[in-house]
Amino acid sequence: MHQKEEILQEDKMATKTYKRTDGRKNDELRSPILAKVGVIPNADGSAMFQIGKTIAIAAVYGPRKMHPQHSQNPEKGTLRCTYNMNSFSVEDRIRPGPSRRSTEISKITEWAIEPVLMIGEYSSQVIDVHINIIQADAGTRCAGINAAAMALAHAGIPMKDLVSSVSVGKMDKTIVLDLDKYEDSEFKEGEGSTDIPITFTHGGEITHIQLDGKINSKQLKETIEMARKAAEEIYEIQKKALKEIGKWKHQISQEIESRNIYK
Ligand code: CDP
Repeated sequence: MHQKEEILQEDKMATKTYKRTDGRKNDELRSPILAKVGVIPNADGSAMFQIGKTIAIAAVYGPRKMHPQHSQNPEKGTLRCTYNMNSFSVEDRIRPGPSRRSTEISKITEWAIEPVLMIGEYSSQVIDVHINIIQADAGTRCAGINAAAMALAHAGIPMKDLVSSVSVGKMDKTIVLDLDKYEDSEFKEGEGSTDIPITFTHGGEITHIQLDGKINSKQLKETIEMARKAAEEIYEIQKKALKEIGKWKHQISQEIESRNIYK
């Protein structure tokens, strides 16, 4: 092949746009997106968030006195998140118990959520958030954060705002929203895969952003804007789920009333 032809060929390959295997548009979230509040009656607050094949459940306990006592902070409360991917959540069984990855995601979840809590008002207390990923197909940290935010609101913890999290990425040179497992870990063509999980307040502030891969500043701006719009869609779904609980409570109280249970 001629040198010029070779360059053209290479150029063609480099600009080849990535086609998503599940047929989604580049800026389309996975479906279904399901959100439900109050899924664990024994918890102070709880919620489920599903996006595509990824399902997260969050349970809130507290605020309550922090134990052991030496961990108490008299100046502010502690948001303690524990992220866990259940061993049955993926095809290859995951070894139960904490890992480096789960410790990292637990910390990131705390950083993503704490800015919207009035944590200064919970001196020496702890708010525990347990996140379980019962099915994983990438984007589990984002699904966990979305479930945790709803569970905290359900627990009646005063919040300045809700947070909504989504991942956005780059497949070779193509910017795409809400990566699935293939896009997150298996896509290797051209520049490969870049995964950027981002968490926004409803006011549009970023409380968490991570970057796994390579991206230039222009593309990064583009990904952030794509994620911002998607976070708005997620926020509406979270809000609707939180409003539903009010409706159930109303229905239950009407039923109790009509059956004269406590009269
Ligand atoms: O889930 P998320 O995208 O937040 O985190 P990740 O570390 O980028 O993991 C991506 C996906 O890889 C997970 O959602 C799982 O589907 C899969 N995974 C796995 O199969 N086994 C692990 N030990 C860790 C992750």
